[in-house]
Amino acid sequence: MAKAFGKVILAGEHAVVYGYPAIASVIGQSVRVEASYTNTPGFEFENHHLNARGDAEQLLEQLSPKLQSLLGERISKVQFKITSQIPGGCGLGSSAALSVALIRSALDLFGEQKNTQEVTDMALEIEKIFHGNPSGIDHTVIAEESLIWFQENKAKHIQCPKPFNIVIAITGPHAGTLKAVQAVRARYENNPQATKHTLEAIADITHNMREAIQTGDIKSVATLMTENHKLLGALGVSTPELDSLCKLAIDNGALGAKLTGAGGGGSIIALTHEPNRLAAVFKQAGYQALQTVVG
Ligand code: PMV
Repeated sequence: MAKAFGKVILAGEHAVVYGYPAIASVIGQSVRVEASYTNTPGFEFENHHLNARGDAEQLLEQLSPKLQSLLGERISKVQFKITSQIPGGCGLGSSAALSVALIRSALDLFGEQKNTQEVTDMALEIEKIFHGNPSGIDHTVIAEESLIWFQENKAKHIQCPKPFNIVIAITGPHAGTLKAVQAVRARYENNPQATKHTLEAIADITHNMREAIQTGDIKSVATLMTENHKLLGALGVSTPELDSLCKLAIDNGALGAKLTGAGGGGSIIALTHEPNRLAAVFKQAGYQALQTVVG
């Protein structure tokens, strides 16, 4: 059995695609995969929304040959039983966690040891099925299982002397990471100067957030999240629903809030000292809410 936790991006999504840094953390919710030898090989989903946008079958067709090319012919005799606590397509790393957990469960079954970098490299190949050409932040933070600074495919652990509470509110699956990344690319091509300026401002926020996390300045971490959200709005990846959920969080005591992941739907994260109260507020407003601690 193998488990991989989901993730949130605290700062720097989209900018990370252009070589700027981002900060991401694993969350408490996970994907569990049990691999076993069987006469009925393949994938059995207990409750994983492999692809909330409906092209799951096509993705599954690509998954088996990809696993075979990474782990060999022996994969053709294996059944993977998948259970997930991470809603799919909502910017919480559900596909990257599945990628990491599939690799780990197979290695576990074969009695093979691989280091984190090797697991990360293999998971990237699977992640490409779901996301085309991802920056790598999702599966890297998930394989590292920590709070990381990520830039140009390299991860560094961030020390966090004061862990903080995050509440995640989920609006539903977003329109797709690839689509959102392409929309930002089009914006960059149409208006390079302004878009570069926005990406640089996001990078400044990411640098300042690392400093705030390391010094335990939680209030500044939260304020920087809110500033990052505004800049993601300027990149065109927020939505009125995400904006209003961030406002709802702040109106209910959150110190800061932002969308997390690709945007265009998906999830927001809010930093708060009262996670139970805020989660109840989101639920009352009709949204699924998850709680996690960062650090
Ligand atoms: O797939 P998501 O929603 O977790 O978004 C990934 C973060 C992006 O920066 C938007 C894309 C990437 O590849 O880094």
